[in-house]
Amino acid sequence: MSGKPSFYITTPIYYVNDIPHIGHAYTTLACDYLARFKRLDGFDVMFLTGTDEHGQKVEKSAAAAGKTPIEFCDQVSQRFRELAEFMNYSNDDFIRTTEERHKIACQDLWKKLEDNGHIYLDKYSGWYSVRDEAFYGEAELIEGEGDAKLAPTGAPVEWVEEESYFFRLSAFEDKLLEFYENLPATVLPKSRKNEVKSFVEGGLRDLSVSRTSFKWGVPVPGNDKHIMYVWIDALTNYMTAAGYPDQNSEKFKKFWPADIHMVGKDILRFHALYWPAFLMGAGIDPAKRIFAHGWWTNEGQKISKSLGNVIDPFEIVEEFGLDQVRYFLMREVPFGNDGDFSRQSMINRINSDLANDLGNLAQRSLSMIFKNCDGVMPTPGSLTDADSEILAAVDELLGKVREHVDVQAISKSLEAIWRVVSDANGYFAGQEPWALKKTDPERMATVLYVTAEIIRQISILTQPIMPASSAKLLDQLKIPDDERGFDQLGSERRLVSGTIMEKPEGVFPRYVES
Ligand code: MSP
Repeated sequence: MSGKPSFYITTPIYYVNDIPHIGHAYTTLACDYLARFKRLDGFDVMFLTGTDEHGQKVEKSAAAAGKTPIEFCDQVSQRFRELAEFMNYSNDDFIRTTEERHKIACQDLWKKLEDNGHIYLDKYSGWYSVRDEAFYGEAELIEGEGDAKLAPTGAPVEWVEEESYFFRLSAFEDKLLEFYENLPATVLPKSRKNEVKSFVEGGLRDLSVSRTSFKWGVPVPGNDKHIMYVWIDALTNYMTAAGYPDQNSEKFKKFWPADIHMVGKDILRFHALYWPAFLMGAGIDPAKRIFAHGWWTNEGQKISKSLGNVIDPFEIVEEFGLDQVRYFLMREVPFGNDGDFSRQSMINRINSDLANDLGNLAQRSLSMIFKNCDGVMPTPGSLTDADSEILAAVDELLGKVREHVDVQAISKSLEAIWRVVSDANGYFAGQEPWALKKTDPERMATVLYVTAEIIRQISILTQPIMPASSAKLLDQLKIPDDERGFDQLGSERRLVSGTIMEKPEGVFPRYVES
């Protein structure tokens, strides 16, 4: 293993009762952006995604589809793998909770919790929602049509009475509050941390962690009448992939505790409360950060199968282009907030930020070099204040972008890059290299060189968000593959004058409604 610092980031594992939609694509995309950024910034990265295949909900969906649970899981899990490939995600592993390595990890964690006295056998009676795979207290329920009781999420609930193992969650209140306080940014955004804290401060009840009414899951060691509660099973995936239960493996020592568990706001409680408590109970360090992002609506409406407005990532990518969709999803909404998907805002972003701002700047400057500088990268003359100023702005950019990325302010990191793109457009327009062609060709060469150098650095910085398009720009600039890391940013490296160029092709077409 290398001596580089490590960075381990995870997506939630996706339920296989649903086919992939924009919400799933979004969570993994955010992780892909962060993982790619960290790799380019010199980290040894492990990026994990996968599918959550156990539980009553999956068992029921399989039966409804006329398949055995494993046939059903194989099929849907494959769709999530295809999505990962299609979206150009750079995940290092894809875990399925039906794998043997995972069963071993779950049973080991369970035994540790039991040995440490945190699990006991009792009887559960209360409300359970299969759709949410969650238990609810009477006071949390809301009224549905015809007096039906519903979970606070609107999901149906059923009354359950059965023998069950319990986890002593109530014993972890103080430890959890300490965990949130001692590390300044365990849960982000801050409002989410306050939400979790007040939930804990309101008092915790022990958690039922096994069920006897279905079979599709990991059996409790020593009592296989009981199947582990699907969330213990699901959360453990993050450790399985890091090599658990072998805590002495190089991999586990390097990557555990995880740096970030990325989740949607709906599953924050499981990650920021149950999961750290389970780990503390087993004597294992919890992840350093849990980040809860917001939800997308479609043209102002909640996305749901029953409304028929589910956005299929495969379809929108076909229509708008992959890097365009990646850019839009990460740029449009401050990361952490809810966001609305609208065709018009997608088109605006594509045409203004990509086609006009970055695309035109690159295409105009590179074609001028090709035509007017004998097809080679020119040698710059002495620099004016305007040249030095714009170069300084791009030379300093990594520091600013990194600050945003360190707190997962993804859209802000892109905004910072595009501020320099916009300044560079102002510089280019102000210098009028096309007019200098006749009056002062040497000065023209300097302006074109400076602009191309800005494109070089911007393209290195946009690789995490638009890997394929950035690569095209870097190819046009003849930057070798091993000179595309963030160590190549700043004033220490510059474009090599005299490099033979080829006729550039536009990388960001305008979207024209047909
Ligand atoms: N299987 C559990 C997670 C277990 S992790 C140990 C699960 N799966 S899920 O498939 O239902 O959801 C996975 C993620 O997709 C969640 O983080 C959820 O927030 C996200 N999204 C689902 N719909 C969404 C939107 N409309 N918008 C943004 N993200 C949403 O929960």
